[in-house]
Amino acid sequence: MSEVVGFELRGRNAIITIDNPPVNALSLGVRQGLMERVDRAAMDSEVLAIILIGLGRTFPAGADIREFDKPVEEPHLLSIIDHFDSIKKPIIAAIHGTALGGGLELALGCHFRVSLPTARFGTPEVKLGIFPGAAGTQRLPRVIGLDRSLELIVLGEPIDARTAFEYGLIDKLVEGDLLEGAISFTRKVLNENLAIQTSSEPREGIGSPEDFQEVIQKYRDIASKKMRGQESPHEAIESVIDGLKMPYDQAVKADRKRFPRCKDSIQSRALRYSFFAEREASKIPGVGKEITPREIKKGAVIGAGTMGGGILMCFADAGIPVLAIESSSEALETGMETISKNYQRMIERGRITETEKANRISLISTSLNFNDLSDADLIIEAAFEDLELKKEIFSKLNEIAKSGAILATNTSYMDINQIAAVTQRAEDIIGLHFFVPANVMKMLEVVRTSSSSPEALATGMQLAKQFKKVGGVAGVSHGFVANRSRAPLVREAQFLVEEGASPAQIDAVLRDFGLPMGVLAVSDMSGLDVSWRMRKSLAHLRDSEERYPHLADRLCEMGRFGRKAGYGYYSYSEGGNLPIPDPEVEEIALKVAEENGIERRKINDAEILDRCLYAAVNEGSKIVEEGIAYRASDIDIMWQYGFGFPRWRGGIMYHADVIGLSEVLDRIEEFHEIHGKLWQPSALLKELAQSGGSFTQK
Ligand code: 3HC
Repeated sequence: MSEVVGFELRGRNAIITIDNPPVNALSLGVRQGLMERVDRAAMDSEVLAIILIGLGRTFPAGADIREFDKPVEEPHLLSIIDHFDSIKKPIIAAIHGTALGGGLELALGCHFRVSLPTARFGTPEVKLGIFPGAAGTQRLPRVIGLDRSLELIVLGEPIDARTAFEYGLIDKLVEGDLLEGAISFTRKVLNENLAIQTSSEPREGIGSPEDFQEVIQKYRDIASKKMRGQESPHEAIESVIDGLKMPYDQAVKADRKRFPRCKDSIQSRALRYSFFAEREASKIPGVGKEITPREIKKGAVIGAGTMGGGILMCFADAGIPVLAIESSSEALETGMETISKNYQRMIERGRITETEKANRISLISTSLNFNDLSDADLIIEAAFEDLELKKEIFSKLNEIAKSGAILATNTSYMDINQIAAVTQRAEDIIGLHFFVPANVMKMLEVVRTSSSSPEALATGMQLAKQFKKVGGVAGVSHGFVANRSRAPLVREAQFLVEEGASPAQIDAVLRDFGLPMGVLAVSDMSGLDVSWRMRKSLAHLRDSEERYPHLADRLCEMGRFGRKAGYGYYSYSEGGNLPIPDPEVEEIALKVAEENGIERRKINDAEILDRCLYAAVNEGSKIVEEGIAYRASDIDIMWQYGFGFPRWRGGIMYHADVIGLSEVLDRIEEFHEIHGKLWQPSALLKELAQSGGSFTQK
């Protein structure tokens, strides 16, 4: 008898309960139990109808992703769902929480569906590199039509219960107790003798691929644009098309061949890795559930410039009142104007309404007086990157902020230990490193100083959730985890231009690999002067044996600060954002190379990719080795959500594992020999390569 699937008779209804916490995933035991219990109910002459319901927080949220690496064992979910078609008693799915993936397919296999208004429905399989393989691609279009099905299947985003009801996916929305509602609906089905609806039969003709050419093309275009390089949305579309071309049985047969191919693909493995890595990143070793994050009822941000403004929007978007502090009323005005413009753009794109804009802006108050910070629960300093200025601000905060307030800095590079040291409450100090634009980018790096308390860290991670971001913890180090591991990629791209590659060639290689933008185009966008200023301020620490980015300096000396100046690694038309290859950059690079004895040569794409990625991998490995990141997989999550690294490649560390660490090490040693000290291989990488280990696989 199954322990995870229960059976109970309520009058003449068999109530079949699924109890497999936390999300009632359809693991082998659940599938076995379901088959067994449903058959028992079908054979029991006392039973007139069968109700399937999930215990705990949800209806099944999908297949058990952890089982994907194991051999598949019968009964398959598809066999169960197809079996339901032959059962002559009505089967009703009673849904709460999230009916996702296989969970939604199970619901589609039932003859009727009722749900709570709070439930959500979706087919997120493409995000795992697969498609709804238990006949979802065949049954969903038969129930809600092709266009809406493709929207769900290709984008993988869930819909709410009201939309599902409007689409005809749900037969009834139940207010109050779900099981009672399902029983009452079942009574109606029996009393009115409603015909059993099997979703393998079209309710009406679903049409042929020719009838839907435009719709299909629309979703092919969306998939190519929104999920560039990812195969699963296209596989999903092909599966749906099969359903238009052939009868249900044949289409399902074709899916049976397609599914294992997708599941075993490199992309699907990387996406599954990413799914678990993301959840792992939210866990702080040594900080258990007994640590309660502090409640943030009121936030404050010091500085309303680009970063500060974005952070203020994060608070307002999360419904948390926030105070903006600036040094002049002009700065405050400009900051608030920018925020208003940003919200206006969101209205134009249909993301929010005028009322939502007004509500959000009303949550932001402004002040020029530091003393007004005294009632904030969390204060984020977003002033200029100047250590002395930050120290001054924190010593003031030490006096003004209320006891127990979390004091955070949004610095990208500074030593937060030094900042914390000017206060008498170092345990309450953390870094909260946002990515640009702060209100859009999903990553939030929570920086742990040598004295940050577990509550302060937990509060930072909790804030990430409240801001609908992904939190990851980093230790103090120049650039923390994300920027520190990315810096060598930028460095190598710059050197490669000095050595003979063009910015356009380098950027094309990285884009083809899957990055959203080329690295040099990104540098132009951010402004080349930012790192120039930093190089100058850190000149006294420079190691003379390390290669120096002369070209980057030269471009800045010439005023080529990037997009804002109209020139950088590329040139830009008046007010334009499109990088245009600029022959002058090649001339400058040639000169810089000559002056510094750098040999110019033709550089192939493979070398560009290896130099850029492996430089980052080597640094990532040092970051893990030094304990600055808890896990290599945290680095991957930061790259995905901070820099748009393609999720279907997992991340730089996962990518290195896929290539094989001994191959990666060989290449790094080769570069070390040619290019010197900056390529010193990481000790951890050496150790793992020699022992046949890996960064990300346990
Ligand atoms: N399989 C295995 N484990 C799962 C899982 C699944 N489908 N879904 C969630 N989990 C685990 C998580 O890893 C996490 O474990 P942990 O506590 O050890 O870290 C735990 O359940 C809780 O998950 P979350 O932290 O994500 O909880 P939330 O409440 O934030 O979110 C959720 C809940 C919305 C259900 C979210 O977990 C989710 O999106 N899950 C994946 C849903 C999905 O992709 N379903 C499709 C699966 S593929 C499929 O069904 C194939 C079919 O077509 C044949």
